[in-house]
Amino acid sequence: MSPIDHVTTLQADITHPKTLEKILDIFEGGKADFVCSDGAPDVTGLHDLDEYIQAQLILSALQLATCVLKEGGAFVAKIFRGRDIDLLYSQLGLLFDKVICAKPRSSRGTSLESFIVCLGYQPRAGWNPKLNPNLSTEEFFQEMKIGRPELHDDLSFDAEERKVAPFIACGDLATSYDSDATYTLEKDLQRTSLDPVQMPTAPPYKKALELKRKGELKIIK
Ligand SMILES: C[S@@+](CC[C@H](N)C(=O)[O-])C[C@H]1O[C@@H](n2cnc3c(N)ncnc32)[C@H](O)[C@@H]1O
Repeated sequence: MSPIDHVTTLQADITHPKTLEKILDIFEGGKADFVCSDGAPDVTGLHDLDEYIQAQLILSALQLATCVLKEGGAFVAKIFRGRDIDLLYSQLGLLFDKVICAKPRSSRGTSLESFIVCLGYQPRAGWNPKLNPNLSTEEFFQEMKIGRPELHDDLSFDAEERKVAPFIACGDLATSYDSDATYTLEKDLQRTSLDPVQMPTAPPYKKALELKRKGELKIIK
């Protein structure tokens, strides 16, 4: 992405422990009010695989949040509401005062995506999250001791705690705007289209545009 004034940008894989380390270095021990993850993989259409990869992005963002958020801070992440999403809600419910699943109007109704909104970060008592590049994300969270039922000596398990987060469809319900639809503009209104504030820096169609400019683009029918 293009540089933005007063914003530090990193181009890196958030699931790589070194990336979280670099972000924490930038904070120099300071704490954040808000951590937001809009990360999403290029979806394959295989829902189980897409949800798994998305879950890894959320876990990495949450790992960062537990290391850098102020007490009372907020965490928002894009999620795909798959089969086991209530487990994530219940895990987040143990770290935040309030967990809500929100679907803003700008998000297409046909898309599985929604956003988990977690308010009021409460560090888990007795757990001091420390990033260790030699530990996997799963190992990092294991120390928090949530999300896995405890196995007792008599081989019994504690029941897994599951919660359902309230679901909020955001926006004004008074209009019938549908983000899946396209709309024709009313002819009598004077409208001017605006150019994008910033053109994409490396769009996937860049090569096609260059070939088109040179008259070398071949369309195979
Ligand atoms: C929905 S887009 C985010 C769009 C962004 N909010 C914007 O306004 O341009 C999802 C982004 O997540 C990024 N992404 C996917 N996997 C990632 C990973 N492992 N680490 C970092 N970013 C990743 C993709 O490259 C993509 O740019």
